[in-house]
Amino acid sequence: MCGIVGYVGHRQALPVLMDGLSRLSYRGYDSAGIAVMDPQNRIQVRKSRGKLAELEKIVARDSVTGTIGIGHTRWATHGEPSDRNAHPHTDASGSIAVVHNGIIENHEELKMYLKKQGINMSTQTDTEVIAHLIHLMYQGDMVETLVELIRVLEGSYALGILCEQEPEKLYCVRNESPLIIGFCNGAGYIASDIPALLNHTRDVVFLQDREIAILTDNGIQIFDAHGQHVAQNFYHVNWEMSDAEKDGYRHFMLKEIHEQPEALERTINRYCRETNRWLPFTDEEVLSFRKLTIVACGTAYHAGVYAKYVIESLAGIPVETEVASEYRYRNPVVADNELVIAVSQSGETADTLAAVRLAKQKGARVLAVCNVAGSSIVREVGEKNTMYTHAGPEIAVASTKAYLTQTVILLLMAVSMAEIRKTIDPQRLLSLTQSLREIKELTENVLRTEELVQRLANQFFMKKHVFFAGRGLDYALSIEAALKLKEVSYIFSEAYAAGELKHGPLAMMQEGCLVMASVTQPELLEKSLSNLQEITARGAYVVAVTSNLLADRVAVHVNQAIRIPDCDPLVAPLLAAIPMQLFAYYMAVERGCDVDQPRNLAKSVTVE
Ligand code: M6R
Repeated sequence: MCGIVGYVGHRQALPVLMDGLSRLSYRGYDSAGIAVMDPQNRIQVRKSRGKLAELEKIVARDSVTGTIGIGHTRWATHGEPSDRNAHPHTDASGSIAVVHNGIIENHEELKMYLKKQGINMSTQTDTEVIAHLIHLMYQGDMVETLVELIRVLEGSYALGILCEQEPEKLYCVRNESPLIIGFCNGAGYIASDIPALLNHTRDVVFLQDREIAILTDNGIQIFDAHGQHVAQNFYHVNWEMSDAEKDGYRHFMLKEIHEQPEALERTINRYCRETNRWLPFTDEEVLSFRKLTIVACGTAYHAGVYAKYVIESLAGIPVETEVASEYRYRNPVVADNELVIAVSQSGETADTLAAVRLAKQKGARVLAVCNVAGSSIVREVGEKNTMYTHAGPEIAVASTKAYLTQTVILLLMAVSMAEIRKTIDPQRLLSLTQSLREIKELTENVLRTEELVQRLANQFFMKKHVFFAGRGLDYALSIEAALKLKEVSYIFSEAYAAGELKHGPLAMMQEGCLVMASVTQPELLEKSLSNLQEITARGAYVVAVTSNLLADRVAVHVNQAIRIPDCDPLVAPLLAAIPMQLFAYYMAVERGCDVDQPRNLAKSVTVE
């Protein structure tokens, strides 16, 4: 959840660290700090509570010089956001400095041990123990020290470490938290995410669990948990630098919403060429699957809910979609011939990763739908069992283009399985293929609703709560739309399967209520219309996102209709998601919220 950067080379470290931190600020933004080895080989620390701008003010007043350093942007887990709890943390002598992403689970026990050695903590963090332990263990060889540290630490960690006794070296270690290394033109870099390195190099090493690395201006060395040298495997990242910049947009979220037509087209083109046989399974395997389970969190889980409807209706395979944090702790039964699909933008979400490991342990075949090459989930299932969403880097905490590319991959998967299982008729296949081919144009058309949506946000941004409702795939979309609104605008929002309204939620409908409805499924039109009438009859104001084909019927029963182009009904919810994303975005902007970095949230949830 936190962001880590590190630099060693011939340039001044401070600007490199600050630039890296600015590119990682979506990972944590309640405090930030840096440590730089000064020319006298003393570690200088500057840190502050609050966003990176606070740290910028501090280093502008009180700068540091030196060509090796580490930096951190924090999302608090242990200890409130404060100057003191901000990273880097040092031992009592200040000769070791550490930045940490993750959670040290046995930190209480380690604190007791350190207390017995006469060492008291000066912060509330779990991280501080690491600096003290390294100082206690260090006997002149840092690799040996880190081998011992790995034996002692329990939990997840990606660490960047400076040591005054070895002033020209930058050390790092990881376990279950991401850490990426790059080396280019006599300079070494570490970061917890790719965007921080794109400025310097596209060839990166993903440090593996329990590996240790030394970076100098001469190169990189990597060791395993026993201190033995291991090979460096470089991955080439094909993201563009501009992908990780705002490119003239006011916020990343808006930029990423507008990138969806291209991202969807790119994703579809990577998989759908001449044949639909692109799944990493043989036809026999596809025929043998008795059950699919989709595990994921947040928005990725909502993509899984969409997939349940689509896969069951096209391919006729039972699908269960489950929140990964529930799956991992409930001793799930894995059936014979069960395929588990993990959906994750980052590939680093701790609960999804744990669910993958559990499913593997229980004998399931596991497939990942993921956006980040080399990420932990991809490594866990293997490249050949990964289907990439080619969304490009998603920086805004609120997921938009990752969601749509996840849903489209899962739809493609359903089509492919249906073809192999002969459960789709040629007419249906044609209609779907046609809509998928036209996805760029269709989604570009939907983006034209932006002005209307902005006006609606201007009208409704003072609302204290908003309801979302839909049936079938429109319900799957509604739960995502409600999450989007609440996470960026802090407005209480809840989604209901429209057929459920009269079983309770209808009691809340009255004048002044705002209901955002989705009506894109022709088969469910009559049912949806009666639900809408039940709502408007109670005086609520209804805005409906609906396909052109249905719009005339829907418009009669709602206060405002947002029209999307006609397409296959399984594709329509993807289009309808866009006005909902724009609605969340503009509501948040109108309310003056920090759209890209909503309070209490971080992009990549690498801790439980
Ligand atoms: O990286 P992942 O897709 O595994 O992340 C899962 C969720 O944390 C993520 O989708 C989260 O719900 C987003 N903030 C929603 O916009």
